[in-house]
Amino acid sequence: ESTLGAAAQQSGRYFGTAIAAGRLGDSTYTTIANREFDMVTAENEMKIDATQPQPGQFNFSQGDRVYNWAVQNGKRVRGHTLAWHSQQPEWMRNMSGGALRQAMINHINGVMAHYKGKIYAWDVVNEAFADGNSGGRRDSNLQRTGNDWIEVAFRTARNADPAAKLCYNDYNIENWTWAKTQGVYNMVRDFKARGVPIDCVGFQAHFNSGSPYHSNFRTTLQNFAALGVDVAITELDIQGASPTTYANVINDCLAVPRCVGITVWGVRDSDSWRPGDTPLLFDGNGNKKPAYTAVLNAL
Ligand code: XIL
Repeated sequence: ESTLGAAAQQSGRYFGTAIAAGRLGDSTYTTIANREFDMVTAENEMKIDATQPQPGQFNFSQGDRVYNWAVQNGKRVRGHTLAWHSQQPEWMRNMSGGALRQAMINHINGVMAHYKGKIYAWDVVNEAFADGNSGGRRDSNLQRTGNDWIEVAFRTARNADPAAKLCYNDYNIENWTWAKTQGVYNMVRDFKARGVPIDCVGFQAHFNSGSPYHSNFRTTLQNFAALGVDVAITELDIQGASPTTYANVINDCLAVPRCVGITVWGVRDSDSWRPGDTPLLFDGNGNKKPAYTAVLNAL
């Protein structure tokens, strides 16, 4: 096969990218993105601050630009993200307690109603666990509403759009030996045991010198999948874009039947949220890097 999306489809998987609405006027960008990828995540446009800038006033203009570009070009969409401590609008950052809990529920209902039946999978909750050795939850205004906020978010999401797969998404959960990985694993196991609706776990896979790729990532994917959820690599980028490391990540996904697809977090290095890391598959001129070839060959 000659594109990432087509190559991934050979095994029934997808290959996606993050799309920024502000770049859709750049024809080099859209040419590569349209040619190579068959799944789209809005890089920022479906987040809380973008979709509900004022309480009760939803705005889907930018999210719809990304959504419409994707669907008009035959691609599916991952929704990102509904409940998160970051990129909250100021009015939500200032909230707490029962009012914040209700605002979270209203937000999930409002955004999922707008996109009802149109989203392949939603990152319902993003980055709820703490880094480091605790294995516990991250402190956030949402966590301070009570430890059950994550399951409330998932139950709300299931009711709002029963057709969407519901994912928990996080970073630094790729290395099986890390406490954060174990914390998320125990939550998913508990949710499955108690019937809390969860369909998938997204592994962001932002690899860099502080959080390097480890060969036990495959074990992590296998162990989560064995709980009865799909797994996906949702925001892949690798500092320096080592072709070998990229190929290892692809092979880890391909080794796990329930690893449904891979998304890289941007198109060209110049589009990356960390451009200095040159972590992506295309250089700033849109040329294929060695990592691109390694990924294509691995798929
Ligand atoms: C990043 C975007 O790429 C940036 O443009 C933005 O300024 C901050 O957020 N984990 C996530 C993504 O779940 O939403 C983040 O995206 C990267 C880390």
